[in-house]
Amino acid sequence: MPARVTLYPSQISFEAARGESLLTAALRAGLNVDYGCSNGSCGRCLAYLKSGEVVPVAHHDYIISTADKAQGGLLMCCQAASGDVSLEARLAHDGTEIPLQQLRAKVRKLEHCDAHTLLLQLRTARSKTLRFIAGQHARLHLVNGLERELPIASCPCDGMNLEFHLHRDASDRFTEYVFNELSNSTWVDIEGPCGDFTLDEDDPSPILFIAWGAGFGPIRSLIEHCLSLELTQTIRLFWVIHEGEVHYAEGYCRAVADAFENIHFHALQTETADEALQQIREQAVDLAGWHAYIAAPPTIIDRCTEQLGQIGLQANKVKSDPLVA
Ligand code: FES
Repeated sequence: MPARVTLYPSQISFEAARGESLLTAALRAGLNVDYGCSNGSCGRCLAYLKSGEVVPVAHHDYIISTADKAQGGLLMCCQAASGDVSLEARLAHDGTEIPLQQLRAKVRKLEHCDAHTLLLQLRTARSKTLRFIAGQHARLHLVNGLERELPIASCPCDGMNLEFHLHRDASDRFTEYVFNELSNSTWVDIEGPCGDFTLDEDDPSPILFIAWGAGFGPIRSLIEHCLSLELTQTIRLFWVIHEGEVHYAEGYCRAVADAFENIHFHALQTETADEALQQIREQAVDLAGWHAYIAAPPTIIDRCTEQLGQIGLQANKVKSDPLVA
């Protein structure tokens, strides 16, 4: 039977499986707890036991001071709950509370979805993973000096396996290099996180996600975060692509929509942006009181905000992530 872990002062609680580290359980629940190495070296996941009992699940090299020990100090990555526990642990509420990190990763996979889209998967060392909030970006530095800030498409619950979705632009040296020359096992330096295209977790409004092409990347990270938080409000995802492109994660979107009654997926393939916006307007009908997250080219974001405003979407309820090649 899972244990219930309550964090103070936020009073947020989550379930932890038997033998599962407190850190893993907290990240799986979508909580932005402080951590660094995940292996007992850095001390950043230090929390204080207020009630209940824990058991060690991993060795740690980090030395907890006598003063911290006296206050119940423990490392969340090395302890599991042996019953219901409460802990004092600080949570980050937005991206500005997460320090800038620098780390290295290796290219694990390059997946060409169609002629225009590529999924770049990187894996960091187990001992140095990237802490970020869903929807944030990271800057990638390639060995040849090319660099680019890109939205992270994966879940913050796994800072070791990072995914980025790239749209091809023949005039852009970075994307051309990644599409044509980057190979598996190449080192990539990562700097991040940055950006504030993050979920307003305290806002219970229904959520509209609009992803344009490879803009599905940051939207996927936000959807994963919604699932971790077990949000219950209505969530509608419109994913727009043009001729010659594919909904490369359509299976994932349909599986999520099938599994959760409150999540709805609309796959749109259109000739023009106006046609797509017309279809979104017809299917969304009334967006008064909705919160929108749009990942699209800058001109499309402006048109979405303007045209969806005609069916009630308020401009101050729109968060956007402008896609740049
Ligand atoms: S995350 Fe580094 S010691 Fe726990």
